[in-house]
Amino acid sequence: MNQATAFAPASVGNVAIGFDILGFAIDAIGDRITVTRAAEPGVRITGCGGLIDDLPREPEKNTAGRALQALAVAARADFGFEMVIEKGIPLASGLGGSAASAVGAVVAANALLEQPFEKLDLLKFAMQGEAVASGSLHVDNIAPSLFGGLVLTVGIDNPRVKKLPVPVGISAVIIHPHMFVSTRAARAILKHEVAMADFVWQTANLAGFISGCYTNDLDLIREGLNDVVIEPQRRQLIPGFSGVRAAALEAGALGCSISGAGPTLFAWTLAEHAEAVRSIMVEEFARNGVETDHWVVPVESEGARVVETR
Ligand code: HSE
Repeated sequence: MNQATAFAPASVGNVAIGFDILGFAIDAIGDRITVTRAAEPGVRITGCGGLIDDLPREPEKNTAGRALQALAVAARADFGFEMVIEKGIPLASGLGGSAASAVGAVVAANALLEQPFEKLDLLKFAMQGEAVASGSLHVDNIAPSLFGGLVLTVGIDNPRVKKLPVPVGISAVIIHPHMFVSTRAARAILKHEVAMADFVWQTANLAGFISGCYTNDLDLIREGLNDVVIEPQRRQLIPGFSGVRAAALEAGALGCSISGAGPTLFAWTLAEHAEAVRSIMVEEFARNGVETDHWVVPVESEGARVVETR
């Protein structure tokens, strides 16, 4: 095989209470990465298009390039990799765009190897790429983009990935306001200390949310989807956040919070309330003068995959 194209989905990081460790994939939106075998060793970015066409072309400064370099070194490949990036995920949106590009690059390149890597190795290569964009090694976007569905990742040097069950009938509403929030900046504003009471509350919410997913307990999920640590520090970055969240809950959402570093918001809701939740969130943003793109998606999905080969 000489060429492979991979689709890697967008994702919601944190899922309110799992800062840097929990995320779910959004299969409706994603990046497409095409990797072609080249005679000359090394990694080259030969094209970039879609929603963004001015990404850095130096591989070490590009999330997909850096991830692919990590794979190429580990594979000790005697050939090179040329890559074309087609962005379907807006930049600085909180939709895990940098993670998706990194994941797409390693999934496509892996298809060209005689001895392909396991997904867990691909996760580690993609993490190197994510670090270029956000300045830190976090996995809450990479793991769901790679594995699909709702994913918990424990550990950085030795990550253990667990796909969590999602009760039947739950949909995710995704609202992307047309504005930019830099992940780096949204991380820089976070305090380094957490009050003991908030630590206990957040821990209870995360534990309750995960237990609720395993036991189909919607009440525990509703109670758990409540971020008392990160959201209060970041919500001022998103105009109208509190009103939009309140309206979503009023319309029947189980929970509503910031997707990753923002500005995108997500809500979890039973499918029958999904359209009402979507409309009210869109309207509330509009009342604040903010236009949006919006999707209603299932939480369960397949993750990154090769979609074309030659
Ligand atoms: N967990 C990360 C954050 C996701 O919230 O900063 C953004 O990539």
